[in-house]
Amino acid sequence: MKFFLDTADIGQIEEAASWGAIAGVTTNPTLYARTGGKLADFNNHIARICAVVDGPVSAEVTAEDRAGMVEQAKEVAALADNVVVKIPTTVEGLAATHELYKLGIPVNMTLCFSVPQALLAARAGARYVSPFIGRFDDISEDGLSQVEDIVTALGNYDFGHEIEVIAASVRSAHHVTQCALMGADIATVPFDVLKKMVAHPLTDRGIASFNADWEKVTQA
Ligand code: G3P
Repeated sequence: MKFFLDTADIGQIEEAASWGAIAGVTTNPTLYARTGGKLADFNNHIARICAVVDGPVSAEVTAEDRAGMVEQAKEVAALADNVVVKIPTTVEGLAATHELYKLGIPVNMTLCFSVPQALLAARAGARYVSPFIGRFDDISEDGLSQVEDIVTALGNYDFGHEIEVIAASVRSAHHVTQCALMGADIATVPFDVLKKMVAHPLTDRGIASFNADWEKVTQA
């Protein structure tokens, strides 16, 4: 399983990149708004992220019609070679994705909550599809089962192009474990979840006991 960092915070991206932990980044309008960024700085911000990360960087369109999505997609895709355009899984989004597929611009179809949506994204030519776990859990559904079903369904077919499942809206290290066990290609995780993935109380306890014993050695 590969990990993407789900953030627009360049400091977090630089730190996670220094761990060798991340193969890409996903952003969305909310994550960009959290950085305090403004519209005029958006393209420059995405270009800066693309310079920090070797792998794909998803930048989301905000238009809701196919022509507007394609126009925004072309603009953002021109910023760097590793830009992936994030497009919601709607009828207009599918049409835009298909157009972009024909132009060779990779798309991450986002806000995906069902197997039929994922299959349609794949047929339209999406390079990635992003089922959301946490937001599905939020409405008392089972986000993990949904991702598992999507991984299984997409694995049943050859779409004639590469498509990877990005488990998104990941809220815990447990989500990551379950997604890895079900064979999701990628988990995109917030920085706080990435830190929790490293942490284990027995690791901390082990370091404390080794250090305590080493004290005895150094005092001998
Ligand atoms: O990748 C999508 C993700 O940013 C959504 O996460 O926690 O806002 O549901 P969340």
